[in-house]
This record gives sequence, structure tokens and C-alpha cells, in this order.
Amino acid sequence: MPTLKDQGLICCDNFIDGNWVSSTQSIRITSPATGGTVAEVADGTREQAELGVEAAHRSFPNWSRTSAKERSSVLRRWHDLILDNVEDLAALMTWEQGKPIAESLTEIKYGAGFIEYYAEEAKRVFGATIPTIAPERRLQTYKQAVGVVGAITPWNFPNAMITRKAAPALAAGCTIVIKPDPATPLSALALCELAHRAGLPSGVLNVVAGSDSQGIGEVLTQHPKIAKFTFTGSTAIGKLLMKQCASTVKKISLELGGNAPFIVFEDADLEEAASHCIATKFRNCGQTCVCTNRIYVQESIEEAFTQKLREGIRSLKVADGFTADTDIGPMINEQAIAKMEQLITDAVAKGAELVLGGARHELGSLFFQPTLLRSVDDTMDLVTGEIFGPIAAVQTFTSENEVIDKANATDYGLAAYFFSRDVGRVMRVAEALECGIVCSNSGVFSTEVAPFGGWKQSGIGSEGGTEGIADFLETKFHSMGGIDR
Ligand code: SIN
Repeated sequence: MPTLKDQGLICCDNFIDGNWVSSTQSIRITSPATGGTVAEVADGTREQAELGVEAAHRSFPNWSRTSAKERSSVLRRWHDLILDNVEDLAALMTWEQGKPIAESLTEIKYGAGFIEYYAEEAKRVFGATIPTIAPERRLQTYKQAVGVVGAITPWNFPNAMITRKAAPALAAGCTIVIKPDPATPLSALALCELAHRAGLPSGVLNVVAGSDSQGIGEVLTQHPKIAKFTFTGSTAIGKLLMKQCASTVKKISLELGGNAPFIVFEDADLEEAASHCIATKFRNCGQTCVCTNRIYVQESIEEAFTQKLREGIRSLKVADGFTADTDIGPMINEQAIAKMEQLITDAVAKGAELVLGGARHELGSLFFQPTLLRSVDDTMDLVTGEIFGPIAAVQTFTSENEVIDKANATDYGLAAYFFSRDVGRVMRVAEALECGIVCSNSGVFSTEVAPFGGWKQSGIGSEGGTEGIADFLETKFHSMGGIDR
């Protein structure tokens, strides 16, 4: 069990209706770096998820009728408390998730950014006055909170994927029941503790962390008192949850898988392109849905670019997330490691050249060597699917049109990156790529002020920015008669 400055942030029960609720069973939370036990957390049940929904439903009328300014103040206090405790929250995250402590600190601040942003947006939810069509009538629209929200959040960003959903939901006047991933519930429960200290009324935010993903998932997608469902995770699970939501026609937002292309044109600044490519490929050990997946390099510069990648990747430090200057921590579990082995075996069997890495790291079972492959082609599993791990896979292209076709030849459409110094090309390629987020001459784009969302099978809806709160609001049209009698 980690020692924090504020031990009160280690919460091991579920948070329902403003109370900490234990269970008869517990989930053992282990450190991916050491395999050691971090904590035993109450294994929330389907019944507890139902209690959470009832609490959220009871608290909805009051919370949705508070003024936007009041909701904003509570959110602001929550944000401030998170920043006051940033080191403890980051430590908890590195314990349970494994990411380097510098990345955990960044995530906590990124996560808090959503709360700050939506505390401000709460006050800027506007309806409209529509020019009338008759003298005795007036036409208006209102924006109203959609109702109780059910949310399922992933292990790769145990804090920010919660605040990115909860902050706009609460700002809009919704109440929420969240199921965090059972691998990383401590970050979610610490957020509840701080929300409670910030004065969020009972029942407005509920967290049920449980290993019964199917049972709790069914409650959050099928309960008639839930109006809106939001999920971040894989496309396969997203499709299943979407089907479950159909029975009660819930509003849905889905942030699903990606297969991000990273395109390097021959006119690019190769030094910059290589360093951003490494940053976006190896962030969180390659375990994000916007990580670079397919690296396309124009034929004439492949040798030079791959050489730069090789040098950069070779210098990445693999270590426990608490060790200073760690670049790459452990993967989340054994299945993730086994998947890397399978992808590499498949690629090499089909003709890829292994340049660096390719095997488990000497540090232990959940550490994997950062890997570089070249001569990759479209038949390989790591091109057709999401890698979700520390493997950089380079292939070549000859022309702009060819690489756009290749980049778009996927069912996914979340993020895409490209490097070019030709401004005309920057515009053409940005417009042509089929994805929700396009990032030119940089590998960094995450921010609370802009929309994050996928096209095609990468999702529905957007989180962040003004779009992020719109997804938790319903539009009501009021046609008022009898005005000019
Ligand atoms: C994700 O991978 O889903 C989140 C990444 C980010 O917000 O930067």
C-alpha cells in the first residue's frame, strides 16, 4: 500500500449516494511494475450499480435546478482540491496503472483542466430566440440537462477519462454513475473523495468499481432511469454496449479504438518528425487510442528517418514508473504483453525487419522492450488492427495520393499525424484524412478546450471543448402563442 501525504485519498469502498459502501468480495489491485498488492478494493456489484442509479435519479431534480453559478463553484472547488493533491493522485495512478510519474502528473493536470473548463462553460449554456413566423407567437429553444448519465471508463487514463465525462455532465446539471476499470479504481475513488470535500451533493456523483463488467455494464446501458450512456474503450466492446443501449434508446457517446497513421513527407523536418513520432508512439507505453499505429515514410527519406527513430527509441529508459526519468513503464497485464509477441511474430513472418527490441524486457514480465520494425506492409496484423503497445512499425509510400488512400483504408478514424513543410500540402492532407483529430507538424494535441472524438468506427460524439457539454444537453423548442392579442 502506498504512503501518501493525505492517506484519506486511499479509498477502498464504492461511493454511492454520498456514502462509502463496502462489499462482501474485494478486488486485489496490483502494481503492474512489481506485481505487488497496492490495495484491496470493494468489488462493487450489479445491485450496487442499481443503487447508484437510484441515488443519481433522486438527486437529479435538485442538482439540475441549481444555478449554473452554483454548479460552477462546486466544480471549481473540486478542481482546486485536485491540484492541491496532485502529487498524491499521481502517485496513486503510477501505483495502480504503472505509467511514469511524470505522465501521471501530466494526466492529473490534464484531467483537472476539464473540470476548470466546464466550471466556466456551465455558465455559457445558451438557448436561442428564433425569429417568429407569426405576430402572436414567439419561438425559443432551451438547453436542459439530459438526465442521469451512466459512464464506463478505461484503465489507460484512470483520471482524465473520468473528468472528461463527469465535468461536462455535472456542469450541464446531469448526475452520474461511473464504472471505472477494475484494474485502476483507486484514482476514480480518490476523485470521489475530493468531490465530496468540494461539497458536491450526495447522489450527484457515484462510482461503482466492480469486476462484474457484464452485470454493471448491463445496468448502465439498460436501466430505464439512465438517459445517457458514455464509454471510452475498445470498438468491440463499444459495439456491444451500443446494442444494449438500444432497448431504452439512450443518447450515447463512444470514444473507441484508433489506428492512427503518422505520415512523414520528404519535405518534413526529419529531426522534429522523429521526436514527435516517438513521443506519440510511446506515450503511456503505447497504450492510448491516439498513439501512432502506422508510420508511413516517403521512400526517399526512409533510411534517414528510420535511423533517427532507431537512435531515439534506443535512448528510451524503461523502468518502474517511480524511477527518475523513466520514459516507458510496464504494460497493464499479461494479455497485453502476449499481444505484442503475437504482433511481432506475425509481422516478421510476413517479411518485416526487426530493427530494435522485439521481446520482453529483462526487468520483468510486464515490461516490454520498445520495438522498431521496418519493411512493414498492409497485410500485417499491426497495420490492420490497433497495436496498443510499444511497437513502432514503419512502411514506405511514394506519393501524397497513395498515402492518403492508405491512411484512410481502415474502419477507424480517431487521430492522424503528418509532417510536411509545404503549406498547400498541409491543408490538402488535413482535409483529406478521414478522422476526428488531425495533427500536423506535431504529435501533441490533447487539451480540454478542443473536441476529441472519432469518425467511422472510432466513435460517436466528442469530448472536450464546447462539443463536450453539448452532448449532455437536450434541446427543447418552446413555441409560445397568445402573445399579441
Ligand atoms: C485516449 O487515448 O483515449 C486519451 C488520450 C488523450 O486524451 O490524450
